[in-house]
Amino acid sequence: MIQISAATRINRSRVPRTWVYMGWEKESGFLNVPGKAPESIRKAMEEEGFQGKEGQVAVYHAVQGPAEKIVALGLGTKPEATAETLRRAGGRLARKAREIRLEGAALEWPRPFQADYLKAFAEGLLLGSYQFTRYKTQLKDAPKGLQKLELKVVPDSLAAAQKALSTALSYGEGTLLARDLINGAPSDVTPKVLAQTARRIAKGPIRIKLYTKKDLQRMGAGGILGVNIGSAQEPYLIHLHYKPQGKPKKSVALVGKGITFDSGGLSLKPAGSMETMKMDMSGAAAVLGIFSQLAKLKPNAEVHGIIPTTENMPGGRAYKPGDVLKAMNGKTMEVLNTDAEGRLILSDGLSYAVEQKVDQIIDMATLTGACVVALGALVSGAMTNNPELLEQVKAATEAEGEPIWELPLVKEYREDIKSKVADIKNIGGGREAGSIIGGLFLQEFVGDTPWVHLDIAGPAYLEREFPAVPYLTYGGTGLMVRSLLTFLKTA
Ligand code: BES
Ligand code: MN
Ligand code: ZN
Repeated sequence: MIQISAATRINRSRVPRTWVYMGWEKESGFLNVPGKAPESIRKAMEEEGFQGKEGQVAVYHAVQGPAEKIVALGLGTKPEATAETLRRAGGRLARKAREIRLEGAALEWPRPFQADYLKAFAEGLLLGSYQFTRYKTQLKDAPKGLQKLELKVVPDSLAAAQKALSTALSYGEGTLLARDLINGAPSDVTPKVLAQTARRIAKGPIRIKLYTKKDLQRMGAGGILGVNIGSAQEPYLIHLHYKPQGKPKKSVALVGKGITFDSGGLSLKPAGSMETMKMDMSGAAAVLGIFSQLAKLKPNAEVHGIIPTTENMPGGRAYKPGDVLKAMNGKTMEVLNTDAEGRLILSDGLSYAVEQKVDQIIDMATLTGACVVALGALVSGAMTNNPELLEQVKAATEAEGEPIWELPLVKEYREDIKSKVADIKNIGGGREAGSIIGGLFLQEFVGDTPWVHLDIAGPAYLEREFPAVPYLTYGGTGLMVRSLLTFLKTA
């Protein structure tokens, strides 16, 4: 992981050195030109029309002077800038550095100092530098990317800068842990591996309860068990529990869908749709990423991390359309499509969360293809029984650049999941409102507890990159780790 440090002085005599400049559009000069930018570089920028437009990035070579190289990043206009502008600039620097094989650089941080800007910039760098190399054997000549960035800050903002960097580092580490889990091959990242990862995280203020198949039978977790029957891998219900020192402000349950591979089961997916279905545990990965940082960030809330996890596989013993499963809260569910499995395992996860008597529940699930169709790869769907809680979640996701958009839980559509033989069925009638139907199904298991459902099917995994958002890399994004860490800290 790239090392980012802040100090009040940077040794200028150590050359060759690369300086990173950041510039606002329509403002004369660079806001953080370290005093004496070589005249040759100022000229080159002018001639090439480097205007500081958002997304602009250019590399200049000094003919003489203290800097050998300058990487210039445009930030756009000052009034339009948000933390996300700086996050993207950080990501852009990471990409550019890899391209030009730059491994070390220095940057004079602009004044006035804004901690949220620095945190975002550092996040962008950490996330944009990420590469998933677990299965690559030919890495010898591959560019390493930026390894070290030294920041110069004024003395009275040094403490704030260091705090912003340490938060960014935590957010980055948590997110990258989630990305690694999502990107791992489905035969490598099994339910057991998620359970082992949770065990590793459970230290200090974090406790774990790990429920095995036997336990789940005793508890009547029919949703998880039903989906699991076709799989050769054991299912688990993972329960992580973080307790802050002193009296917590509130208790929150974070529930993550942990399908480590979704074949669709007997309602088999077409081959193409199955290609990325190792990502169907992205909600679980987010919970693990969040918990991996709680001991360090110490939010003042009690947090439960709940992960129902299994594969969804076809086979001679697999659950079948027509089967009826009984969830942990006693409700019966008619399975009419074995590919609507996420809601079945979440029925137990949510019932279990309610049993913990928490103040709030937030679930994260790659639940519906319909949500990908509706909102695409950069926006998650959000549904709630409590608008106030959704507002709080939304504020956090906006601060972290992980947009959500509310879909209404239209009461009248509840008719569509009425079953002739059981309490409810796991699909609606036709092709309408697929994401909302999923949300309405989940709502059956949260009772009166304030709850937000995040359908992250689109943004959890990118099959193409977005040049405008350079800190997002191909594959797992690890989204919602940063947003929910911020939610836990502030709400
Ligand atoms: N894991 C999928 C949803 C999904 C699709 C996530 C594409 C990411 C990308 C989920 O289990 C599923 O298969 N949902 C079905 C529900 C349907 C059968 C009601 C779907 O969306 O087709
Ligand atoms: Mn499915
Ligand atoms: Zn699924």
